[in-house]
Amino acid sequence: MSVFDTGPDVRIGIDVGGTWIKGAVVNLETGAPAGEVLHLRTPAGGTVDAVADTLERLVGELGAPGTAAGVAIPSIVQNGVARSAANMDDSWLGLDVQACLGARLGIPVTVVNDADAAGMAEARYGAGKDRSGVVLVLTLGTGIGSALIVDGMLVPNFELGHLEVAGYKAESRASAVAREREGLGWDEYTDRLQQYLSHVEFLFSPDLIIVGGGISACSNEYLPRLSLRTPVVPAALQNSAGVVGAALQSAARSEGPLSLAV
Ligand code: BGC
Repeated sequence: MSVFDTGPDVRIGIDVGGTWIKGAVVNLETGAPAGEVLHLRTPAGGTVDAVADTLERLVGELGAPGTAAGVAIPSIVQNGVARSAANMDDSWLGLDVQACLGARLGIPVTVVNDADAAGMAEARYGAGKDRSGVVLVLTLGTGIGSALIVDGMLVPNFELGHLEVAGYKAESRASAVAREREGLGWDEYTDRLQQYLSHVEFLFSPDLIIVGGGISACSNEYLPRLSLRTPVVPAALQNSAGVVGAALQSAARSEGPLSLAV
């Protein structure tokens, strides 16, 4: 008997990124993917249509027919509608992505901001588990995503990657992709991160900062060099946080508002 038949609460979680679209069937009791995390290339151009085609393939390959899905996208999401497209094709802007993907995939779909998904997963199962107070999760990738969780409740669409620091949009200088694009060494990159995090700390006084995104795998290169009064820790779920959080959000939609109850 497969894990899909045995009754654990499972949902499909999908994370749409600039390079990869990742998806898995997630066991919500453990917060772990119930099988393999599948990776499909994000189609060039990243239009809604092309991405929806890829999602259809992905959901088919996951082989859990009828299972509801959460889809994380790098956009402000309000009631299922994409309200920004900073690193996405403009065809997403203003679209009811939730309704559109629900119709295309033929299953209940919940759409959520990618950093909010990662933040909820970290707060429920990862580095923020059982932490009360103000927890800030930052994902360093193509952009900078941020999720604010206060006593276990998410404040959605908290777009701190777009803060202006030293005359620049923060994510244009301190994201993981900015580091690669400019060929920055760890010292130089850590200086930028320090400047950004000091500003964020001054404005929001979090009790804990969790740093995620692809770059969290090499957090020993920059975390020990940071000087902040707030504890800063690497994300525990690393690259699967978006997938797990998207699945969690799908469950929250069918079961009412999600409290991560700490
Ligand atoms: C977007 C956010 C997103 C972040 C990480 C930013 O450019 O505005 O919505 O969470 O990138 O993908």
